[in-house]
Amino acid sequence: MRVLVTGGCGFIGSHLTEALVREGHQVRVLDNFFSGKRSNLRTVARDVEILKGDCADPRAAARAVAGVEVVYHEAAVPSVARSVDDPLLSHRANSTATITMLTAARDAGVRRLIYAGSSSVYGDTPTLPKREDMPTRPLSPYAIGKLTGEQYLRVFHRLYGLETLTLRYFNVFGPRQDPGSPYSGVISLFTTALLNGRTPVIYGDGRQSRDFTFVENVVRANLLALRAPRAEGQAVNVATQRQITLLQLLAELSKLIGVKVKAEKRPVRRGDIRHSLAHIGAARRLLGYKPTIDFETGLRRTVEWYRSQA
Ligand code: UD1
Repeated sequence: MRVLVTGGCGFIGSHLTEALVREGHQVRVLDNFFSGKRSNLRTVARDVEILKGDCADPRAAARAVAGVEVVYHEAAVPSVARSVDDPLLSHRANSTATITMLTAARDAGVRRLIYAGSSSVYGDTPTLPKREDMPTRPLSPYAIGKLTGEQYLRVFHRLYGLETLTLRYFNVFGPRQDPGSPYSGVISLFTTALLNGRTPVIYGDGRQSRDFTFVENVVRANLLALRAPRAEGQAVNVATQRQITLLQLLAELSKLIGVKVKAEKRPVRRGDIRHSLAHIGAARRLLGYKPTIDFETGLRRTVEWYRSQA
């Protein structure tokens, strides 16, 4: 198939692009290099067409979708904390970019668009695990942007028959996640802090929990989504279905890396969610998904990767 991956030079996008190439698809990437890097696609550079452009720019979007059958829309500015500091940047990169890609896809006769959604849309509603039919209650501009994106997908499916599908990712981690900013994912920050003898920072008491999901599981869900016949118009959780607190995460990392650490405590970040845990029955039913790499194995591979980069 001819496939477009937006954000294909980023963390999740590059893993997905590699897997699609391995499966024999013809892959084009659209990336504005806000956080993506060409070097992330080093292993498949000769097999992939890379376009530089912004998903919120209708001309770049139109150029990217031309002749494409399926779009994976992975491009985003994925930080909750950053969206609290800069809501307009988040809105453009998450909401505006998504409706622009959807409109371009509709106009070009794209068959299917698969979207990187987020567990942040659930907010702090009390019931765990989160099922897709539970109410959403976004707590940050980022979560609003991600929810707006998935609502547009649902409506584009109803109005125009575009086969849309949202995968609500739960805290994805793994090789290539960039630890270079205070807005980076917590596993990338903790791991590189411990490897480099720095003190990790915990916002709050460290008892907040996440359903950390190794990137390979997310790639697998995306490959299944390419052909899933009954998933159109839906939003589906993609996770491990295991609840890990930040204190547990830190203990596991200390063991793997072989250091003793005491974190520096800072106040809870605004917009932060307390607990996040997915129910993954819908992904199993609609996609045939099950996580194949558990948390510990994923963490070990992640540590090895950051070590190899040192
Ligand atoms: C993450 C993703 C987001 C995704 C969502 C659901 C990142 C940057 N964000 O948001 O794109 O949609 O999961 O899948 O990957 N924390 C610390 N110390 C740090 C950094 C973070 O204590 O140095 C805390 C945060 O306050 C939060 C938790 O760790 O309580 C997780 O934070 P983070 O990794 O930024 O992810 P989410 O906000 O959950």
